[in-house]
Amino acid sequence: MTSLPLLDSPVLSRALVAYGHYLSFMVCFAALVLERRLIRPQPDRRDAIWMVITDIVYGIAALGVLGTGILRVLYFGQGSAFYTENPLFWWKVGAYLTVGTLSLYPTITYILWAIPLRKGELPQVSESLATRLKWILNVEILGFALIPLLAALMARGVGRPLLG
Ligand code: HEM
Repeated sequence: MTSLPLLDSPVLSRALVAYGHYLSFMVCFAALVLERRLIRPQPDRRDAIWMVITDIVYGIAALGVLGTGILRVLYFGQGSAFYTENPLFWWKVGAYLTVGTLSLYPTITYILWAIPLRKGELPQVSESLATRLKWILNVEILGFALIPLLAALMARGVGRPLLG
């Protein structure tokens, strides 16, 4: 009896991990765009709660991107040296970490909102805080749009030192 060759080969697991990477990235992007659209001074309770939810979804998906990315480097890609020898890979990791660090500001802001929201009060969001959050989200969205370019170049070996 012949079995499906795909199920026996590492191709399927590689494809699934790659899919996990893309799906996490898409969820991150969608959550950031939604969060960006919701930001406004003095939001009502519903919008404030949605901003917190989109930030949590973004955080979980960002961990998914990181986890699947690490799995691809170590086990399901073209061998870890293929990536670690390429400066574009480190630019990509650096861009991811920069976006991640920037996202601490909105996340800490929303954690502080949990206190008034739990008491049934609205968080105080001034015009300047809303503008600041919007700009941070703009930069994060731009970063997330640029990282796939670095990824596409890196996956094709652009930037790798020439051998021999
Ligand atoms: C530190 C975090 C990350 C690591 C370690 C990582 C690692 C990887 C690896 C190993 C690949 C496989 C390349 C190949 O096919 O040989 C890959 C592909 C890819 N990554 Fe990431 N990644 C990370 C973050 C991200 C982020 C944040 C995004 C999107 C914003 C992203 C988007 C992509 C895309 C689109 C590809 C496919 C490139 C292609 O095949 O053309 N990655 N990543």
